[in-house]
Amino acid sequence: MTVVDRRSLLASLGAGLLSAPAFRSAAAAPAAAPAAGLAKLAADRGVLFGTAVNHASLGRYPALTEILRADAAIVVPEWELKWASLRPSPTAFDFAKADSLLDFAGRNRLAVRGHALLWHEALPRWFAGLTKQETGRLVADHIGTVARRYAGRLHSWDVVNEPINPRDGLPGGLRNSPFYQALGPSYLETALDLAAAGDPSARLVINDYNLEMQVPEHEARRQAMLALLAGLVRRRIPVHALGIQAHLDAGGAPFDPARFRAFLRAVGDLGLAVYITELDVNDRLLGPDPAARDMAVAEVYRTFLGAALAEPVVKVVMLWGVSDLGTWLNDSPNARRRDGLPIRGLPYDDQFRPKRAWSAIRDALLEAPVRS
Ligand code: XIL
Repeated sequence: MTVVDRRSLLASLGAGLLSAPAFRSAAAAPAAAPAAGLAKLAADRGVLFGTAVNHASLGRYPALTEILRADAAIVVPEWELKWASLRPSPTAFDFAKADSLLDFAGRNRLAVRGHALLWHEALPRWFAGLTKQETGRLVADHIGTVARRYAGRLHSWDVVNEPINPRDGLPGGLRNSPFYQALGPSYLETALDLAAAGDPSARLVINDYNLEMQVPEHEARRQAMLALLAGLVRRRIPVHALGIQAHLDAGGAPFDPARFRAFLRAVGDLGLAVYITELDVNDRLLGPDPAARDMAVAEVYRTFLGAALAEPVVKVVMLWGVSDLGTWLNDSPNARRRDGLPIRGLPYDDQFRPKRAWSAIRDALLEAPVRS
């Protein structure tokens, strides 16, 4: 299921995100701006804060590196560790862009998350022609080779991205992905075991989306994810955290902080951490006025992060980009705004100037309890 579909699905659910009680309060007046950037504010509370970056943008916009120096302690390659970037053929790897990104992170003292060892999207064209046996062999070869190459250099890996899709009707609400089709439900354990063998130091994460809002589809996904994680923990499969992508919509589905926090605690009760892994706020459901959109987007950041960070189980918060310039949110016809205006979903605008969303994230970090 593509991001596009889930957005239109959310939109069809009606019930504006901003109309939900949780989001009704007026936008928080920015507190006194602390000298520290978001990374330091987060670190003072035991939270690792950062963002997705991509090789092209880093090379093109020096302002981006300046922002990362203040507002990121960790980065994740938006594209460069995906199969489509790493695998020109079934027998070859191309690590050049990933290596370059990791070198950049090292030079700027930024930790790095890996994303993603298995994902049913961003697969190279040749993948579709594989037999089930070839897929199984390639999965083992890919995870082992990539995990070993970066062993000791990554904070964590999204080992399997988006394994849940109850709409596919499979047991446990699993997605009918090419990996499931080739290897059955045990592909998740296989992937985690291979990742642990390849890089014993990286924290291993199962990452997914639409786990955030108080709507039946997200609730079903939360329950399926909890069952999946509980089974992995029970069978002592190496897994350390749940990644919640948090691609949110201003004016979309309702959000219930208490119910979301209860879910976070349920993950913590399994002995796992929670990482917010791809946070951004799409404003495509709102009218065209930029000031009103910025206010609404900021309120979503403030309220969602306020709820997430209130739970000490949340150890990492990653944005999916820092600037509206180049955000993936404009990439796809159904995800972008009907009026064609560029989406203003990130804390910096397309001139790399901070917006209300930046202040909202700062305020949520200022209020977050310290965690170990
Ligand atoms: C997206 C990137 O941002 C795009 O540039 C790319 O074209 C497609 O993938 N969930 C994920 C991310 O886990 O890997 C996706 O990133 C966004 C949705």
